[in-house]
Amino acid sequence: MEKIILEEKQGNPTFKVSLKNNSKKLYLESYGCQMNFSDSEIVASILDKNGYNTTRDLKESDLILINTCSIREKAEFTVRNRLKSFKKLKKQNPKLIVGILGCMAERMKESLLEEEKLVDLVVGPDAYRDLPTLLEEVEGGQKSVNVLLSREETYADISPVRLDSKGISGFISIMRGCDNMCSFCVVPFTRGRERSRSPLTIVAEAKDLYQKGYKEVILLGQNVDSYRWNINKKEEVIDQNIPSTNFSELLEKVALVAKDLRVRFSTSHPKDMTDDVVHVMKKHRNICNYIHLPVQSGSSKILQKMNRGYSKEWYLKRIKSIREIIPNCAISTDIITGFCDESDEDFQETLDLMKKVEFNFSYMFFYSERPKTLAERKFKDNVPLEIKKLRLQRVIDLQKEHSLKNNESSVGKIMEVLVEGPSKKSALEYCGRNDENYKVVFPKEDSKEGDYVNVLIERFTSATLIGKII
Ligand code: 5AD
Ligand code: SF4
Repeated sequence: MEKIILEEKQGNPTFKVSLKNNSKKLYLESYGCQMNFSDSEIVASILDKNGYNTTRDLKESDLILINTCSIREKAEFTVRNRLKSFKKLKKQNPKLIVGILGCMAERMKESLLEEEKLVDLVVGPDAYRDLPTLLEEVEGGQKSVNVLLSREETYADISPVRLDSKGISGFISIMRGCDNMCSFCVVPFTRGRERSRSPLTIVAEAKDLYQKGYKEVILLGQNVDSYRWNINKKEEVIDQNIPSTNFSELLEKVALVAKDLRVRFSTSHPKDMTDDVVHVMKKHRNICNYIHLPVQSGSSKILQKMNRGYSKEWYLKRIKSIREIIPNCAISTDIITGFCDESDEDFQETLDLMKKVEFNFSYMFFYSERPKTLAERKFKDNVPLEIKKLRLQRVIDLQKEHSLKNNESSVGKIMEVLVEGPSKKSALEYCGRNDENYKVVFPKEDSKEGDYVNVLIERFTSATLIGKII
């Protein structure tokens, strides 16, 4: 039986950020998923208590940490090049420490230290509490590594230092790791077993953010529908004396923190997502009408090979059910083209599924074989790269059509938008997001960041809605 930690602290945990007069400077760069960005905030918090303030200026840094991603080969390639670019800085400042964190640290362990001599420090996603000790070792002239994965670490008691945030939207990590073992995916190997964080600390973090003026929280997990506190995988309560919480209950608890605190969550899994979650979304206006539900492929044969645990028909039924409960719910997805043995007919099934669903957004990739995964060990990566890329382009083109069609239907509608910051193109315009996670751009008028404004949509591009405040 899955063992989960059940201790909870008495009362509400406090979330304080120390404001010490730190003397050293940490430059922290993150790649990959939102989870990595959220982890970097935990790292910044741990190091803040150990003498480091963050800086955006590489040149003044005493410590450079790169939080890395291994999901596709290209992501690792980008990080390697970045690490090589630090060699010059190290020559100028021999005391400069360079370290890698996250998935690549876990995957490559000592090789980055020994073979390539690119870094002084390698720390996996469950070992961040050990950073101060590891840094001491490096300062003493050693190279340092901790890539141990944990079954229990959730960093539940650590109050993240909010990086790159204007105090409007904050990530809350609700669980770590993944037990799904999709055959293409490296995450179970780099982030370890699934474990959920105490609901008490999650709600306390949401309250803390709200009290600090935040307007939105994003609950993060590799598969949020597997969130379980005091419930085992057979859906049985483990200890009758402690309250149990599943994801829909957690979502409701967070939604109840404040009526004007927007709640988003990611990522949902088609095999685990229940209607309960959608009903809770419908019940609470502040939970955004947006679900990220990666399908990966439209072919049931390929889905089985991917070990996704559902068929095309199951996925379409999930979509139907979501739309019956919340007709205007925005749905986005992830799609991989050219997975092992994907034939033209299989690929047509993906296009067919896309046409049936008409996703609001998609994140699209061609298959990239990853070490240790079931696909790497057992299947042949037998779709030629050019075919993978051609198929990807077709998927991108089709998504663009659907996005434009969806965006067109928004013209003339009035949408509540949370103002996030200046638009990329003009200092006179703000950019924000509506309930369905669409980017909306509009002239500032007298609104300010963090406000909710009503915007009448007048125009659109494939990625943005454009309008004016009314
Ligand atoms: N190749 C291509 N895309 C991948 N993803 C995960 N692993 C791979 C891989 N080996 C995509 C999936 C997942 C998203 C985060 O990245 O679509 O949902
Ligand atoms: Fe990877 Fe599948 Fe887990 Fe997502 S659900 S992180 S794709 S193993």
